[in-house]
Amino acid sequence: MAIFLTGVTGYIGSYLAAELLEQHGESLNLLVRAEDSQEAQRRLWRSLQLHFGFPVFHEHLSARIRIFCGDLTSPRFGLNDEKYDLLVSSTDSVLHCAASLNRKSEKSCLNVNLRGTLEVIQLARRAHDAHGLRRFSEVSTVAVAGQRRNEQVTEDSAIDWDRSDYDPYARTKKFGEHLVRELLPDVPRTIFRPSIVLGDSRRPETTQFDMVRAFVFLGGLPVLPFRPDDCVDIVPVDYVADAIVTLHQSPRPKYEIYHLSSGVNSESFRELTAALAEARGKMKPLFWPELEAPFRAIVERLSRRRDNLGYTASRLEVFLPYLVWNTVFDNTRVVAELRRAPAPFSSYCFSLFRYAKENRFRYPYREWPEIATLPSTARDSEYSESARHVSAGEPAK
Ligand SMILES: NC(=O)c1ccc[n+]([C@@H]2O[C@H](COP(=O)([O-])OP(=O)(O)OC[C@H]3O[C@@H](n4cnc5c(N)ncnc54)[C@H](OP(=O)(O)O)[C@@H]3O)[C@@H](O)[C@H]2O)c1
Repeated sequence: MAIFLTGVTGYIGSYLAAELLEQHGESLNLLVRAEDSQEAQRRLWRSLQLHFGFPVFHEHLSARIRIFCGDLTSPRFGLNDEKYDLLVSSTDSVLHCAASLNRKSEKSCLNVNLRGTLEVIQLARRAHDAHGLRRFSEVSTVAVAGQRRNEQVTEDSAIDWDRSDYDPYARTKKFGEHLVRELLPDVPRTIFRPSIVLGDSRRPETTQFDMVRAFVFLGGLPVLPFRPDDCVDIVPVDYVADAIVTLHQSPRPKYEIYHLSSGVNSESFRELTAALAEARGKMKPLFWPELEAPFRAIVERLSRRRDNLGYTASRLEVFLPYLVWNTVFDNTRVVAELRRAPAPFSSYCFSLFRYAKENRFRYPYREWPEIATLPSTARDSEYSESARHVSAGEPAK
């Protein structure tokens, strides 16, 4: 039996897969968007190379991973009956991490976060009815709390259906949680709500640069249009992944919902910029909150450009509401369960800043090694036989 994991080619999903493979013994059923098994394996290598060298990756691929080439937005993920039945019969828990984070596209959020989540729930329903499901875990977001100002939000008070949301992403993730609760009432469930996931507290490398771009841009400004004592709830990806995997694998997590956040220990703009300025040997920025409205207008105008600056501005545009809401998410539950709090962003922000700048916001991906040519006969949903040959240095058949 295996854990069905979605979103493995994404940033957080790659950490979940890596931690499950390294710290736990179960096999993984992975949904990967790809035309065929070769493309899926290459995409998987691209995503997991942040965590493993090629030989270890290949060992896992051959022994513990079954790939299902599919799309959340296709009925039964686009799998044929045989593969879909195999997925149902071999899945004993679900960890749904995939999502559209495209806050500017309502269509994409509706399709992936609603229709896609419904597809995953239907898979879970079938698996549960057939042989019982150990757990369904949904990776959601604190954005489900809707529009807020100067608040400290607990897990149970976050969803308020009368409240407006900042964007289609928040709205569809909120409804995604609702679907899970309503349609899987008899399945043990866990909902995880990370806050802003930014960097790894143990090392500077990252493959996710969207928010990092905005952070580096803001970190370079001499004047910031923020209130200096507003707090930003940032959490490192290693803490998020550890919490999700630990609680997903736990026989009885204490709660159904967990904020994966920094909570009351969230740092203020003043604290973060002071730490960054000191590490860089630069002056601290000035704060001028009255500039927020003109700053927004400039960012909005710049976001229409089709160059690097335009791209950074468009990232900043969608993140701005979450930077100025001065709202933090109580993390007492997760800290008690893990017996540790997340590392503060100030303790690792400079190494992330430097890494992102030095690498020009690109992870230096390694291609699939030449020696490891993939067998054209590898079937999409079978444990990869080829991997054994490759890791042993033999040419694949
Ligand atoms: N990053 C954050 O700061 C943050 C904060 C709070 C919550 N979250 C939640 O954490 C989860 C993961 O976020 P992330 O930052 O890791 O996102 P990400 O890097 O953009 O990864 C998204 C993943 O979803 C997959 N996906 C998207 N559309 C799909 C489809 N139609 N069919 C199959 N797979 C599809 C992507 O596959 P492809 O590679 O094929 O596109 C990718 O593997 C999401 O549920 C998000 O809501 C993230």
